[in-house]
Amino acid sequence: MSVQDETAGPLTTEAGAPVADNQNSQTAGAGGPALIQDQLLLEKLAHFNRERIPERVVHARGAGAYGRFTVTADVTRYTRAKFLSEIGKETEVFLRFSTVAGNLGAADAVRDPRGFALKFYTEEGNYDLVGNNTPVFFIKDAVKFPDFIHTQKRDPYTGSQEPDNVWDFWGLSPESTHQVTWLFGDRGIPASYRHMNGYGSHTFQWANDAGEVFWVKYHFKTDQGIKNLTQAEADELAGKDPDSHQRDLREAIERGDYPTWTVQVQLMPAADAAAYRFNPFDLTKVWPHEDYPPIEIGKLELNRNPRNVFAETEQSVFSPHHFVPGIGPSPDKMLQGRLFAYGDAHRYRVGINADALPVNEPKAARARTHGRDGVMYDGRHGGAKNYEPNSFGGPAQTDRPLWEPTAVTGATGEHPAPSHAEDDDFVQAGDLYRLMSQDEQQRLVDNLAGNIAGVSHDEIAQRAIENFRKADEDFGKRLEAAVQALRG
Ligand code: HEM
Repeated sequence: MSVQDETAGPLTTEAGAPVADNQNSQTAGAGGPALIQDQLLLEKLAHFNRERIPERVVHARGAGAYGRFTVTADVTRYTRAKFLSEIGKETEVFLRFSTVAGNLGAADAVRDPRGFALKFYTEEGNYDLVGNNTPVFFIKDAVKFPDFIHTQKRDPYTGSQEPDNVWDFWGLSPESTHQVTWLFGDRGIPASYRHMNGYGSHTFQWANDAGEVFWVKYHFKTDQGIKNLTQAEADELAGKDPDSHQRDLREAIERGDYPTWTVQVQLMPAADAAAYRFNPFDLTKVWPHEDYPPIEIGKLELNRNPRNVFAETEQSVFSPHHFVPGIGPSPDKMLQGRLFAYGDAHRYRVGINADALPVNEPKAARARTHGRDGVMYDGRHGGAKNYEPNSFGGPAQTDRPLWEPTAVTGATGEHPAPSHAEDDDFVQAGDLYRLMSQDEQQRLVDNLAGNIAGVSHDEIAQRAIENFRKADEDFGKRLEAAVQALRG
């Protein structure tokens, strides 16, 4: 359903002058060369050359929708965030779903995590939760992220995605075993963005009015039911309809079939963290539900498509550092790196005024900063003073931090994330494997084997297989046999 918005009237140049002829450019005589005085021709060609902005370095391909979040439980004991302060309270949201590795024009139906980036337009500023459809991740230290992503993207020599690079990195980064087991299992290729869960993945801080701290993990459970594609179904769909996910989302909203998610949190009192059996800030681990049962706190509904994909979806920006009072970061080393990476990416990709674009600006609050000017500054501050403190009634600091401080000890240095009693790189991957039915295990082994079989170096394939053997002896044995059968 496309909409022609412009009011009736003549076609104009960018400066608003009426255009006489949009079919023939000006030339020196019929059949002669073009004239530099042809403002329309020059303007059109120049604007066209500048239509693209850099695509996201990861998660380039995505689809977004607006909606609302409604609180369904009293969580004021855990956080003072105002948008969570009352049962029934509604907050407008924008959610951008994405795949990770593919470029802007890639197909949707691929084996890859899906991004689940949610912006809550709260009355205390925008709160962004930039998660995935997986509760864990491949690595646990931000310093490894660029290397990891290089192995998922195109090889510098072949220009293609290469199984050698992917499995080399995963084999040499055993902490990835849990997430890789997840990714090659049944949920690795969701049927659509509507039929998958979302997770905040990291552990975050919630703090109540009294300053008590809880560590929190977010879960968004799809009310549409989980639906996945097999590798064969995905291969076919990716060829037939590369836009399958984005079309599905847009069309569902157009016909009023609004997708919803039930929002749950796992909460850990701050005092539990030090002695918990797993490092609670390790992104490669979940908190088993028997330890911290998820509690339902809200409902998320998507009910409005963007009117302009470029303006609202491509230029939307989400930052894990966009917190609101009562919510903050944890010491998770991945999250800490992300607190820098996103704002930096936005300044490069969209510009220093990205947060002032309609999709990104606070809607239930007002941004009152002394940051000014820069490319595409719209003058929104008028003549207001651009410094603080000032004597002209300008906005001033509140003296209350958004979140509570975290106590630390020890010397600075390149420390690995601390290991707790039951931490190793394989235990939760093994648990996940053993939770699966025989059929699911077989599909997992087949999916992995089909991929590992494409590796050109035996030692890379073998190293990868050994990680799965460390997770579960039977897993490793079956995988080795399946890879051998394919490689001959
Ligand atoms: C240290 C690790 C990571 C770094 C440095 C990193 C960096 C980035 C960057 C630079 C972008 C592009 C942002 C833009 O251009 O607007 C991005 C997008 C994204 N990342 Fe990460 N990322 C990391 C880990 C993760 C993890 C663990 C998750 C999920 C749990 C995640 C979820 C996303 C999502 C959903 C997007 C797309 C946001 C959107 O729709 O605009 N990333 N990441």
